[in-house]
Amino acid sequence: MPVGTLGTVKGLFPDQLRAVGTQKLLANTYHLALRPGAEVVEELGGLHRFMDWDGPILTDSGGFQVFSLAGLRDIDDERVVFKSHIDGSILELTPARAIEIQQQLGADCIMCLDECPPADAPIEQIAEAVRRTTLWAQLCRDTQARDDQALFGIVQGGIDQSQREKSADKLVPLDFPGYAIGGLSVGESPTEMYRTLDHTTPHLPSEKPRYLMGVGRPEDLVESVLRGIDLFDCVMPTRNGRNATAFTSTGRVKMRNRKHMRDDAPLDPACECPACTRYCRGYLRHMFIAGEMLGPILLSLHNIAFYHRTMSDLRVAILEGRADSFRSECLAAWESE
Ligand code: GUN
Ligand code: ZN
Repeated sequence: MPVGTLGTVKGLFPDQLRAVGTQKLLANTYHLALRPGAEVVEELGGLHRFMDWDGPILTDSGGFQVFSLAGLRDIDDERVVFKSHIDGSILELTPARAIEIQQQLGADCIMCLDECPPADAPIEQIAEAVRRTTLWAQLCRDTQARDDQALFGIVQGGIDQSQREKSADKLVPLDFPGYAIGGLSVGESPTEMYRTLDHTTPHLPSEKPRYLMGVGRPEDLVESVLRGIDLFDCVMPTRNGRNATAFTSTGRVKMRNRKHMRDDAPLDPACECPACTRYCRGYLRHMFIAGEMLGPILLSLHNIAFYHRTMSDLRVAILEGRADSFRSECLAAWESE
C-alpha cells in the first residue's frame, strides 16, 4: 500500500497509481482527524469520494503517532492525548473514538488503537504496551458494529519473543478478520526484525491477512513475505522518490548525481512506468537539479511501480516454487549500488 497519509499519495493522481499496479492505499486517522477533520471528510462523501480513489483504503489508527510524536502526547489506559503538531490544539483518541473516526472516514480496513513503543524501550515498557494494546483491541472490537469495515488487531511486543507470543495469543481469540504486526522498523536491526517475524507470524492465522506495518526496504518486503507477511505500507518509495533516490532492478540510484547528466538510457530498462518509458536519466536528473516538480512526481511513481513489480514477481516465484532463489537473486542484484 502506497502511503496517502493526508488523503493523497503526494504528487500522484489515483489513476496514475492504478496504472502502475496499486491495489490499496493507506491513510491516517490522526492526521485526517486534525485536518480537515473526520466530520468534514464524512460530509464531503467519505474518504473514497474525497480523494477520488474507488479502490480499497486502510486507515491506521493513530497508534504509530504514539511513537513518532512521543514529545507531543500523553498516554494512559483510557486514552492518548495529542498536542497537534500543526497548531498545538488537543486531539484525544480513546479506542472507541479511534474507531468512530475511522467509521466517519469510511475506509475498508481500519485498525485498532495501539501503543507502539520504541525499539530501545525497557522490557517493562514493552510489556505495558502489550497489556494496553490488548485491552484496547477488546474495546475497539466492542465499538465496531459495521460489517462493511474490516477491523484488524495489532500485535506489539518489541523484539521480545515471549511478549510477541503473548500479544498474538491474546488477539487471535478476538477473531479479527486480519492481523497487523506493529512496533517494528522503530530502530531495531533488520536481523532482529526478521527474528521477531519468525516468532510472530506462526501465532497468527495463515488464512487471514497478516500486515507488517511501516516496512520497509525492498529487501525487507521479500524477507518478510517469505516469513508469512501479506500486506505492507511504507513511505519509502514516495519519500525516497521525492528526495531523488530511485529503487531499480540493479539497486538504488541517486538521481542528482552528475554522472547521469548526459545519460540517454532509461532509469530502469526493466520498468514500464512513465519515468522509464518516456524519459532518459539525463532528463530525470535535470528535473531534480532545476527543482522542477516533475522530478519528485516521476520518481515517486517509478518507485511505487518498482515495489509493486517486486511483489508481483515474488508472487509468481512462490507459485512456481522458486521463492528462495528469487530472494537470492534480488539481494545480489540490489547490493550493487
Ligand atoms: N505503523 C508502523 N508501526 C506501527 C505500529 O506499531 N502501530 C500502528 N498503529 N501503526 C504503525
Ligand atoms: Zn520506472
